[in-house]
Amino acid sequence: MKVILVNGSSRKNGCTSVALHEVERALHEEGIDTETMFIGNAPMSDCLACRKCRELGRCVLDDAVNEFVEKAKTADGFVFGSPVYYAHPSARILTLLDRAFYSGGQYFAFKPAAAVLSARRAGTTASFDVLNKYFTICSMPVVSSTYWNHVYGAQPEEVAEDKEGLMTMYNIGKNMAWLLKCIALGRENGVPVPHNEKVLTNFTR
Ligand SMILES: Cc1cc2nc3c(=O)[nH]c(=O)nc-3n(C[C@H](O)[C@H](O)[C@H](O)COP(=O)(O)O)c2cc1C
Repeated sequence: MKVILVNGSSRKNGCTSVALHEVERALHEEGIDTETMFIGNAPMSDCLACRKCRELGRCVLDDAVNEFVEKAKTADGFVFGSPVYYAHPSARILTLLDRAFYSGGQYFAFKPAAAVLSARRAGTTASFDVLNKYFTICSMPVVSSTYWNHVYGAQPEEVAEDKEGLMTMYNIGKNMAWLLKCIALGRENGVPVPHNEKVLTNFTR
């Protein structure tokens, strides 16, 4: 079983990375493989809304998004980490999620996910809300913890002192491992993933 942890910060070894490492530590203790993906700090284009992904099966912009979707195909779970910027997740992670879920949403369904945030002071729960919405419209079980999924700090050393925040991260890892094992046992014992109906409507029809 494998979990992909996405670091949506512009800083590879910043505060978000400390939070993700703590989730990873708990996953490793439970025998779950992990891969951390730093999506970089180069400019990344937003979704072009060209809908070419419907024909091609991948995004026309061949960058970290397609790389991530390729990894997602064989992953069993996901943790998305982001710093808080002006009370929202980083534009980088939103771009990644918009394009990955639009072009490859089927590779995320029925796989557990958790969002984790890092902030100096405020905006974490608003950001948490934004990230969780990707999961809940894509049939992904949301992995919870024992308190809010965030750590505090402007620098990684400060996050290392946030004992409660790190405990919350650790418990996410434990809870995700438990859920992954339950899903695997269900699969082995003949519990299929549900069939989801799909009807699209809008306000004019
Ligand atoms: C552009 C920008 C906006 C920020 N906005 C907020 C904010 O609204 N609330 C907050 O608590 N911290 C804010 N911060 C601080 C970061 O969220 C915080 O330092 C975070 O832990 C950095 O994580 P990183 O080291 O992984 O990038 C902001 C930082 C930047 C660069």
